[in-house]
Amino acid sequence: MLFQLNEEQLMIRQAARDFAQTELKPGVIERDEHQKFPAEQVKKLGELGFLGMMVSEKYNGSGLDALSYVLVMEELSKVDASASVVVSVNNSLVCFGLEAYGSDFQKEKYLKPLAAGEKIGAFCLSEPEAGSDATSQQTTAEDKGDHYLLNGTKNWITNGGTASTYLVIAQTDKSLRHKGINAFIVEKGMEGFTVGPKENKMGIRGSDTHSLMFNDVKVPKENRIGENGFGFKFAMKTLEGGRIGIAAQALGIAAGAYELALDYAKQRKAFGKPIAEHQAIAFKLADMATHIEAARLLVYKAAWLKDQGQPYTLAGSMAKLYASKVAMEVTVEAVQIHGGYGFVKEYHVERLMRDAKITQIYEGTSEIQKMVISREIIR
Ligand code: CAA
Repeated sequence: MLFQLNEEQLMIRQAARDFAQTELKPGVIERDEHQKFPAEQVKKLGELGFLGMMVSEKYNGSGLDALSYVLVMEELSKVDASASVVVSVNNSLVCFGLEAYGSDFQKEKYLKPLAAGEKIGAFCLSEPEAGSDATSQQTTAEDKGDHYLLNGTKNWITNGGTASTYLVIAQTDKSLRHKGINAFIVEKGMEGFTVGPKENKMGIRGSDTHSLMFNDVKVPKENRIGENGFGFKFAMKTLEGGRIGIAAQALGIAAGAYELALDYAKQRKAFGKPIAEHQAIAFKLADMATHIEAARLLVYKAAWLKDQGQPYTLAGSMAKLYASKVAMEVTVEAVQIHGGYGFVKEYHVERLMRDAKITQIYEGTSEIQKMVISREIIR
């Protein structure tokens, strides 16, 4: 494994770093405060090709590798995790799923505008009664010949209000359990499809999280993804890549908080010298830097395996489990290093601490990652 990024990867990382500083940082505190979706910024991310990074150019994507994608996720997340989650969901959960498993018709009609950033996608698996236990879907899709009739509720859907294209997982035959699940493409505006109010969240407050209600929504048969009964595997395969993106988000949140804490510790003086020169703070910084570097290696390795066409289920879950734990620990320490300033919004670290928590919850909780990891190593 090469521990060196190539020219293209370095350029892409720099572009994301610049974008984060010039476009995301200026309004990030206000967007968090007012739960404002970063609409203009997301539009620009689309123009830069960051919303369809790994999609082939044939379908309007940027045709880049997974390592470039995690570099972008890391840089954007250092500054604004509410914006980076849009990038993650659109790339990993929506575009990847459509390119890997969609029909030619679906790729032409739905993938192209999503990869170009002209439209935003959402991935709809979680339900009021089915979060971690994803086989227990209550949303149903009844086969009516030329269409399916979709009924049910989805919860915690990222991009729920702003998306135009929704990948919805539903039961078509309860008796078959996971083999009776399918994935469907649902468009905003289809009759019977309503978006619930925006959730008032602890972190990633700028991101757009909603419940979705489906009441006798007619979904054309050509909008089912893959063979009949493929929906659960579709969700699992898609989430595998998604977990690498969220691991990179967690890494970025940790690195962003660490960089702020390091700068602050070098400038802030107490007892006659910069606090970074007090061992109590210096040792904290040493731990933070070491844990972040370990998380980075896991995240990059998972992306690298994906790029090599090798299995990445285990590596992706390990990366997400560890990076999200590091994000939580490092952001708490960053607040501590800032003292009272860490507790107020202008210094950014309290927001990063709140944002870090979701990385241990969405796209599979830490407990789910341990389930996946233990099954992989025991099997
Ligand atoms: N790839 C391919 N197939 C897989 C798979 C994978 N990674 N994981 C499981 N499967 C297959 C199994 O092989 C099995 O198929 P067969 O019977 O044909 O062999 C089938 O799926 C069922 O597998 P399990 O018996 O392992 O299923 P389970 O009920 O024990 O659940 C689980 C496994 C890993 C816990 C899974 O339910 C899971 O990942 N749950 C968490 C769901 C999740 O991540 N939710 C987050 C919501 S999305 C989100 O947060 C998006 C957002 O907005 C940000």
